[in-house]
Amino acid sequence: MKTVLITGTSSGIGRAAVLKFQKEGWNVIATMRSPEKETAFNVLDNVLIVALDVQKIQTIENAIQTGIERFGQIDAIVNNAGHAVFGAFELTSEEQVSKIFDINVYGPMRVLRVILPYFRAQRSGVIINISSQGGRVTFPTCSIYHATKFALEGLTEALAYELIPFGIQTKIVEPGSTATGFVGAAEITTGQIPAYEEFIKIGLGNWAKYDTMTSLPEEIADVIFLASTDKSEKLRYQAGKDTELYVGKMQEGDDQAYVRYMRERFIPEYLAK
Ligand SMILES: NC(=O)c1ccc[n+]([C@@H]2O[C@H](COP(=O)([O-])OP(=O)(O)OC[C@H]3O[C@@H](n4cnc5c(N)ncnc54)[C@H](OP(=O)(O)O)[C@@H]3O)[C@@H](O)[C@H]2O)c1
Repeated sequence: MKTVLITGTSSGIGRAAVLKFQKEGWNVIATMRSPEKETAFNVLDNVLIVALDVQKIQTIENAIQTGIERFGQIDAIVNNAGHAVFGAFELTSEEQVSKIFDINVYGPMRVLRVILPYFRAQRSGVIINISSQGGRVTFPTCSIYHATKFALEGLTEALAYELIPFGIQTKIVEPGSTATGFVGAAEITTGQIPAYEEFIKIGLGNWAKYDTMTSLPEEIADVIFLASTDKSEKLRYQAGKDTELYVGKMQEGDDQAYVRYMRERFIPEYLAK
């Protein structure tokens, strides 16, 4: 019986992933910041709930140790926990920048530092890093969020080469817009610069207007499970119809045509007349 450890399972995609792996017969180490609040996973067979805050290395060490003691070994890790800050970069505080990088980039790095010695010793393991279509393409008003997901993509792509000698597989799952509380929980920058306020209103307004291709978290969980089990060399797994549109447009190859397309779609008010 295989075992997966997933971060950020209190809600959304992480929660759906716990249920998917459990249903498929895996042991699941369901980690979250506040396990005392969890009431549903406790009754599921082969699900171990453990405290893990990706900003605190000791909780990661403890969760991995506890999971191995309970299930014998860990076969896959899903770095899912994430945070969003939306708005103009100039309006983003140092604290907001530090926090989002600490959760979205340094968090998965901390998890990797702890799990890699185990994976190297057992000469196997699958790492699934949950990026975003926002790790491949950018949308107006999400600059600092994109910076974190582009960083995670670069790290993961390079690791996919680096870890080959140890039999460790490294994968990226890129969800598109997904019906979770993620956007609602995002920090929105506030500022006193009217031109930015207008820009953000237009950018977010057009985003909402086109946001009609939203996936369910269960659909993303299916893709995470596929990436964990298909044993292929495939690196990137797009998850969601909107990723096909935006990443597909970018992959058509004409970089300036793609940038023009995104400007026309999301901020037409700012096109040169
Ligand atoms: N929803 C989308 O449209 C979308 C699109 C592309 C990519 N994604 C990515 O998908 C992943 C999951 O997001 P979601 O949509 O499922 O949103 P979500 O329901 O808000 O889930 C985010 C999870 O991350 C956890 N978390 C935040 N900070 C943490 C920390 N320091 N340590 C451990 N856990 C922490 C949250 O736990 P608490 O309950 O403790 O806050 C929550 O369980 C994220 O990486 C996100 O970037 C989402």
